[in-house]
Amino acid sequence: MNRRRFVASSVAAAAGAALVRGDAYAGSVESGGAAGPSDHAVPGAIAEDVIQKARFPEGFLWGAATASYQVEGAWNADGKGESIWDRFTHTPGKVRGGVTGDVACDQYHLYREDVALMKRLNLKSYRFSISWPRIQPTGTGAPNMKGLDYYKRLADALLEAGIRPWCTMYHWDLPQALEDRGGWPNRELAGYFGEYAGILGKHLGDRITTWAPFNMPWAVAYMGYAAGALPPCRTSFPDFLKALHTLGLAQGEAHRAVKAASAKATVGSAYEMAPAYPKTETEADRAAAARYHAMNNVFFLEAAMKGRYANAFVGEPPYDAMGVRPGDEKLLLAPLDWVGFHFYTRRIVSDASKERSFGGGSFGGTEIESETAGGRDPYTKIRAGMPTEGPLTDSGMEVWPRGMYDLVMQITKEYDHPIIEITESGGGYLDEPYAKENGRIPDTRRIQWFRQVLAELARAIADGAKVRAYHAWSLLDNFQWAEGYTERYGLVHVDFRSLQRTIKDSGYWYGRVAASGRLGDGGNRGQ
Ligand code: FCB
Repeated sequence: MNRRRFVASSVAAAAGAALVRGDAYAGSVESGGAAGPSDHAVPGAIAEDVIQKARFPEGFLWGAATASYQVEGAWNADGKGESIWDRFTHTPGKVRGGVTGDVACDQYHLYREDVALMKRLNLKSYRFSISWPRIQPTGTGAPNMKGLDYYKRLADALLEAGIRPWCTMYHWDLPQALEDRGGWPNRELAGYFGEYAGILGKHLGDRITTWAPFNMPWAVAYMGYAAGALPPCRTSFPDFLKALHTLGLAQGEAHRAVKAASAKATVGSAYEMAPAYPKTETEADRAAAARYHAMNNVFFLEAAMKGRYANAFVGEPPYDAMGVRPGDEKLLLAPLDWVGFHFYTRRIVSDASKERSFGGGSFGGTEIESETAGGRDPYTKIRAGMPTEGPLTDSGMEVWPRGMYDLVMQITKEYDHPIIEITESGGGYLDEPYAKENGRIPDTRRIQWFRQVLAELARAIADGAKVRAYHAWSLLDNFQWAEGYTERYGLVHVDFRSLQRTIKDSGYWYGRVAASGRLGDGGNRGQ
């Protein structure tokens, strides 16, 4: 790769990427002014009249998202191989409460019931993921037809219900056999992933046309190989860097392979993004926030769109340590048909270039590292914390609706008005069936979360962002990774003993929004 050109052009991408913190509502609340549309007492909240006025365009795709390991269960059914999540949850002491995803919501067997629920909630798009070890039990070689059959049945049931099947090829359940061959730091995995994507395109491409290679590739690399917070729980910066590049290459391979196998395939993404605000207005913190944006938000987007990585680094980018080879820019390049990303919360970022220690960070839906000493890694040299100025969800994430507007507008501007899909967005609240009201689930806080975040999304659309879909995380309460079943994100409640599903008040409310394109009232009515 022509290093000089590569670096020079990617520096330009990172420059000026920092959001101005004073833009956020906190700024106007702190200064006592009414600069933003918020006159609400809760920091970060949006005014009721803005919510009432919000309108979504005709044909907007209202959806919900899940992931294979979090909902399917049937962990060893029909020839499925072991994944790194099976290995992790079967190791004592790893998951809160010692639980596993062996059964989870058992969507593998109950998918018809779940599709009927989606239909009842007027959903038009269902984002699910395919479990790689169901298709290739050891990650390479001939496909397991029984695994493919399950996804054919699921896609058919969705299509019959008028719901678009939206497929993530990889939502973290790597075949254990591939981890045994080195995992994502091993460059060979890019080729294996391409073969897997080709199998999906060939066998499912007649039914599924909306694809994304990876859920949250940065988290796969950092949480899995540097912070050790997710399997395979390694704590090696060199492995993290190598994993980043294999994932970048694999994204390109999958893009080409699925399109070669299926003429109707469109390919986008499911990146984890968070708007990054500098902690102070110093040049150093503004540059750090720009590096956060380059690494956490657009590293893989830039790779796909332009065949280069956004410059997220202090000093010389560590391309040698990442294993970047001459010509790799051609492999990275795979321009997306639409850009998909999640929104949960925001980050306050500061410069850590003077820190001596690096590492750590934990995962609770998005990365949470405000409590760690030192900087995050010795290449980006940032600290990225989740503030607690706004209220916290039961899962401990700050509620900051304005972040949705800022993020969507930033991507809209930087990538010249791409088609955007929100791939995940939601709040973790623990509300349970209320016995005095026939088991109704009055999860009012979740409704408020969605109303505010969606009002900010509507504002971005009104200001020119081409957003065509929103996927609530999640359709169902499910297995929340290392937190086990202690967090609930569903529009639908799941009793994990009986597997009974019960639509929450937020689910009924979301169903009305999906039908009308308006956020309307606070939605306290059960039906
Ligand atoms: C996201 C993950 C998803 C879920 C939510 C809460 O980061 O993609 O699987 O766990 O967080």
